[in-house]
Amino acid sequence: MVSQDMNQDIEKVVYTQEQLQARIAELGAQITEDYKDCKEEIFCVGILKGAVMFYTDLLRQIKLPVNFDFMIASSYGNGTSTSGEVKILKDLDYDIEGKHLLVIEDIIDSGTTMCYLKKYFAARKPKSVKLAALLSKPSRRTADVDIDYCGYIVPDEFLVGYGLDYAEKYRNLPYIGVLKPEVYQND
Ligand code: IMP
Ligand code: MG
Repeated sequence: MVSQDMNQDIEKVVYTQEQLQARIAELGAQITEDYKDCKEEIFCVGILKGAVMFYTDLLRQIKLPVNFDFMIASSYGNGTSTSGEVKILKDLDYDIEGKHLLVIEDIIDSGTTMCYLKKYFAARKPKSVKLAALLSKPSRRTADVDIDYCGYIVPDEFLVGYGLDYAEKYRNLPYIGVLKPEVYQND
């Protein structure tokens, strides 16, 4: 059961709002530097829903023209480990052929989702594809995924907040924290 005060369900805060903003500003500056000589706009694809907070904050730190687009891909269901199956629930609105694609994701865990999406994008012949992921859990990786812009490497703990959910809750916490195990064990 989710407490009325969501903070009560958090065992510890891992990244505060201030830490996240500072790290995202660094990533945005790096991306701005890397793409500054590109003639074409950067085609930014956010993977909903988890990446929405990171996407909007990161894009405000990229000081170049960008295209906005989103996909909804789902591999999780309501549990805390992957089902292995990836479903595209919302596709891109635009053709990406010949474009510089920047994929923006909340967390790379097993890598299943991103491995699938990277093949999906490659088949649509973009000029380049790079990946920005706020978090990476390399200890859980079963599929190889290169991350071009990574916010933080995290240990194998179930995290919520700043877009990350447990059963669709906690996405609106402004920080990232570890969920108390009793919250999901009791479900
Ligand atoms: P992957 O396909 O196993 O890499 O899983 C990627 C997706 O699983 C992410 O985009 C998240 O939506 C979800 N996920 C993985 N780890 C966590 C976590 O610690 N908290 C919340 N969601 C997670
Ligand atoms: Mg996600």
